[in-house]
Amino acid sequence: MAKTISKKKSNTIKLNFDTSWSYAPAPESKSAATINKQYDLFINGEWVKPSGGKPARLNDDSRSGGYFDTINPANEEKLSEVAEANVADVDKAVKAARTAYEKVWKKMPAKERAKYVFRISRMIQEKARELAIIESLDGGKPIRESRDFDVPTAANHFFYYAGWADKLEYAFPNRKTESLGVAGQIIPWNFPLLMAAWKIAPAIATGNTVVLKPAETTPLTALKLAEIIQESDLPPGVVNIVTGAGATGAAIVNHPDINKIAFTGSTDVGKIIQRAIAGTNKKATLELGGKAANIIFEDAPIDQAVEGVINGIYFNQGHVCCAGSRLYVQESIAKQVIKKLRDRIESLIVGDPLDKNTDIGAINSRQQLETIHKYLDIGKKEGAEMYQSSCSLPGRGFWCRPTLFTNVAQSNRIAQEEIFGPVLAILTFRTDDEVIEKANNSPYGLSAGVWTDKGSKIFNMTRRMRAGVVWANTFNKFDPSSPFGGYKESGFGREGGLHGLLPYLNLVN
Ligand code: NAI
Ligand code: MG
Repeated sequence: MAKTISKKKSNTIKLNFDTSWSYAPAPESKSAATINKQYDLFINGEWVKPSGGKPARLNDDSRSGGYFDTINPANEEKLSEVAEANVADVDKAVKAARTAYEKVWKKMPAKERAKYVFRISRMIQEKARELAIIESLDGGKPIRESRDFDVPTAANHFFYYAGWADKLEYAFPNRKTESLGVAGQIIPWNFPLLMAAWKIAPAIATGNTVVLKPAETTPLTALKLAEIIQESDLPPGVVNIVTGAGATGAAIVNHPDINKIAFTGSTDVGKIIQRAIAGTNKKATLELGGKAANIIFEDAPIDQAVEGVINGIYFNQGHVCCAGSRLYVQESIAKQVIKKLRDRIESLIVGDPLDKNTDIGAINSRQQLETIHKYLDIGKKEGAEMYQSSCSLPGRGFWCRPTLFTNVAQSNRIAQEEIFGPVLAILTFRTDDEVIEKANNSPYGLSAGVWTDKGSKIFNMTRRMRAGVVWANTFNKFDPSSPFGGYKESGFGREGGLHGLLPYLNLVN
């Protein structure tokens, strides 16, 4: 709508802009990224063709050995095709990792190992722009996040663990440490490069070798990392990257010569892995789902809390295991907070992940979009009230408007189950005891948030809440020096910080 203001009676100036906020498009350039037409498997420092040679049909081992497409979820266009590793290919990768472990990596002085890990960190920084663009193209997340969060945090993880490599005697005073051997690492699609960094950096810094599998919808930044690793002159076989879907993951889990499994993904697959390795000597860390409670007390700074809630659930389209997907608001301020949240989601910009103004990008896959829609229907059928932003959505690709539900009951499925999308369930409470009981009443226990002016309340809440991470007056903050991991069905083991070294070491005396 053009706005007219009158200057003088005889002279009016027409202001030619929309009175509601809008930004001119500011897309990042795709030309700053090189994506090959086809990627092979990265085994023993080289690119190796998959052994089958048939067209891949994911998860069908009799057909595997070919290539499958990875697409851009924002427009459904093919970006590249990547190899699907079958059991024989995974075996090749594990053998390479074993040989590198016994012949080279285990014996190398720790301070020499550290130099490689440090170099990988520096090379990620050098290629940060390209990595961010590829991350947004392949997975749908806004460039602002991949540029400002995923890629720098990935580099920081390598940097941080490079520092520990030759200081393990200080990390575990008076103890002797020993690496485990070959680690099989399986990662999801929500933070593809960052999860690869979380897994690879502590493993190789502590003297282990790795076979890593990225998720089938987001393999490209892990393959770029393979290029970086090759360029870094890391001894061949120390890191092997094999692509594929669940069957490839299962081949890693079931391989007899793997000493440790590190998995991040769904609770269902976490349970399958636990059953598969029961009775073997394999160690495991599992980082699974979540249904984080974000709690706002009436004495909290409301605007700051609202912004934190928005960041907590709409960040990365809600594809975050620690997303603040359950909001508990104290009854006295509920009306005010809900109004502010509704206004705020109306102003979120949904669209092209490569646009620097975008707040919410594309949902990672058609399958995930279907899961989210299923939960929107469940929420409505359960009697909750749904509110969505009125924004328009692009015609192609996978999209979901930022959504919130009010009138939610604690027993509703949208308050109990992980949705993994930009969907917030809002509940109310009166007392501290009530909200602690409700917050802890969940099969999960990965993270939580507390918003209050009182320090004593924060300490009381963090002590009583069964969650691996509790953020106070902030949300979704990460640092390589800070451990992360869950309780209950959110898994076990910690990643990050000094704690993150332990799953890759035996303390021998
Ligand atoms: P998923 O658990 O199937 O996928 C995660 C990784 O595990 C992928 O690399 C996949 O190829 C691999 N995988 C699948 N089946 C396997 C098996 N039998 N053995 C070994 N590896 C296997 O997750 P999916 O289906 O992509 O998402 C389903 C739900 O899981 C989401 O809606 C969300 O609720 C949750 N999820 C949680 C994540 C987290 O960060 N904790 C990440 C991704 C999904
Ligand atoms: Mg993709």
